Order: sequence, then C-alpha cells, then structure tokens
Amino acid sequence: MLLRLLVSILPLAVQVSAGTFAQTNAHQGSGFLKAFSVEAIADPTRGRVKYVDAATADAQNLTYASGDHFVLRADYKTKLSSSGPGRSSVRLKSNKKYSKAIMIFNIRHMPVGCGTWPALWTVGSNWPSQGEIDILEGVNDRGPNQVTLHTAKGCTMPSYRDQSGTTVGTNCDAAVNNNKGCSVRSPETRSYGASFNSNGGGWYALQRATGGIRVWFWSRSASNVPSDVRNGASSINTDNWGTPLAYFPPDSCNMDDYFGDQNIIINLTFCGDWAGNDYGESGCPSTCVDYVNNNPSAFRDAYWDLQWLKIYEF
Ligand SMILES: *[C@@H]1O[C@H](CO)[C@@H](O)[C@H](O)[C@H]1NC(C)=O
Ligand SMILES: *[C@@H]1O[C@H](CO)[C@@H](O)[C@H](O)[C@H]1NC(C)=O
Repeated sequence: MLLRLLVSILPLAVQVSAGTFAQTNAHQGSGFLKAFSVEAIADPTRGRVKYVDAATADAQNLTYASGDHFVLRADYKTKLSSSGPGRSSVRLKSNKKYSKAIMIFNIRHMPVGCGTWPALWTVGSNWPSQGEIDILEGVNDRGPNQVTLHTAKGCTMPSYRDQSGTTVGTNCDAAVNNNKGCSVRSPETRSYGASFNSNGGGWYALQRATGGIRVWFWSRSASNVPSDVRNGASSINTDNWGTPLAYFPPDSCNMDDYFGDQNIIINLTFCGDWAGNDYGESGCPSTCVDYVNNNPSAFRDAYWDLQWLKIYEF
C-alpha cells in the first residue's frame, strides 16, 4: 500500500519540481507607478516623440491607474508644429533589474495607429553587452508579432527548433544586418495590433533561464490558456504551457554570457529608425512625420492597457 502510494506520487513530484516557480513580484494598477519610473529622455531611435516626465504624464492623463487598469498613452489632442517637439508619449522603465525569471504580462490593449512603434522589452546596461529581448514590438500596425534578441558578437540560433513561430534571422549580433537581431515571427495574427485588441488582448510570457529564452503568447480568445497563466497564480508550472511561440536555445549562445541583469521597458514612439523607414511600404497615408504631426485623433487608440504583471524569479 505504502509502496503503491510512493510509486504513484513520485513521477508527479519529479515533474512538479522541474517546471514549478513561485511568484516573487506582482504589479497592478497604481502599483505600476511604484515599480516603474517614467523616463523623460530623448529617443535614441530618433522618433517623432517627446517623452514626458511623470508629473506631466499624470497631469495630461498619459498615465492613468484605476483598479486593474494601468494605461499609458500618447497625446491624441494636439496638432504639432513641424518645427516643434514630437508627439507626447510615455516611456516606463522598471526600477528593478531581473535575470533568471518568468514574467507574465496580462495585456488588455496595445497601441495602434499608422506611425506607431510600441515596444515591450527588456534590456541590460552597456548595450548590447547585457543583451536585449523584444517581447512585443512592431510598427505601423503591421503584425504578427516578432520576438527578437539583440546581443554582442557571437550569439547565433539554429534555424529549426521547438517553437510554433517562424525563424527570421539567426545571428543575434546587434552589429550585423543593421541590428535586425535574431527574430521569431508569431503564427498568430491575434498576437499584434488591431487583431490583438479586438480579441481582448492576451498574455505574453517570457522565461529567461540558463537553458534558453522562451516566449509564449495566448490570445484572450484562445481555448488553450493555462489556468495558472490566466489567473497569474502564486505558483506556476511551465511544463503545462505547451510549445512556446519562440525558443532561443543556448547551444551556440551561452545565455549567462550574453544576457545580464535587465530592466523591463514599455515605450511608444513614432516614426524614427524603424517605423519611419517602414512607413512607405505600410499602406499608411502621407509621410510618417506629417501624419503624426497633423492627425492627433488618429492616436486615440495609441495606448497600452495592462491588467497585471506577475514575476517569478529563480
Ligand atoms: C523605444 O522602443 C524601441 C523599440 O524597442 C527602441 O529601439 C527605442 O530605443 C526605444 N526608445 C526609447 C527612448 O527607449
Ligand atoms: C484618463 O484616461 C482614462 C483611461 O484612458 C480614462 O478612462 C479617463 O476618462 C481619462 N480621464 C480624463 C479626465 O480624461
């Protein structure tokens, strides 16, 4: 009897210890403003943006917290002078740095609009030596999402690996291919932009471990959302999460060498190095800067609405 009990418990116990992680941080509503800082800095990617400080963001309602809503947005009321500063927007940086961890972002809405370049990403100091992980990023409403790593020289990825997405570039070195990095494109239109929003958003999860980097995405309308993800449970088991959208294995990229302590950054810029260069092929009207200057109401939906962020460090 005792033996039988042990035999039936044992395999379960082993499996649980492999993929189980305990929650170490949770952010919701106004909690985001305590865990993150608003950074009024110049956009290094030359966007048509003016990142405002925390007081201005609050006064202009560009940051807004209530219950399980945390909204950050761009100004959608002001017509800009072509000789003046860019469109007001917000850049958030986590006060804390993270290394080995799982992060689950429960996102209701992401910014959309021609000329927008929203990004949810993590990055270390002394770029690119501590690495960069772009979890959710794109331009000019063009999905699906691509997850991208940018690293120092020497980190490469195999073409085929255990992921549902499509490999786009295998050299992560930020110094080659105009810093395109190594990407994986999501198989789901719901992963980005208008389709993401019309399906109620969803959950992005990042796992950083010595064994590699994984990113999962579940639309809110998906039928296979694990219950621990849906609930942001205090203990999660990644063994039940299925194949990730992107998997970056450590085979020819020692994770501990290429990825150091990183801050989480959530930003929204306009035009600039990527959205500006892509604009002509995007089907968007006029030129990027002209459109951003003259059509404030087109940016009414240029906002993030985050329901919560749960972090599991290990
Ligand atoms: C905003 O996000 C983009 C995309 O990741 C990044 O390249 C750019 O440097 C960011 N801008 C700022 C000011 O953080
Ligand atoms: C501030 O923004 C929130 C979220 O977008 C919105 O619900 C609220 O009505 C806004 N408040 C004002 C005073 O505009």
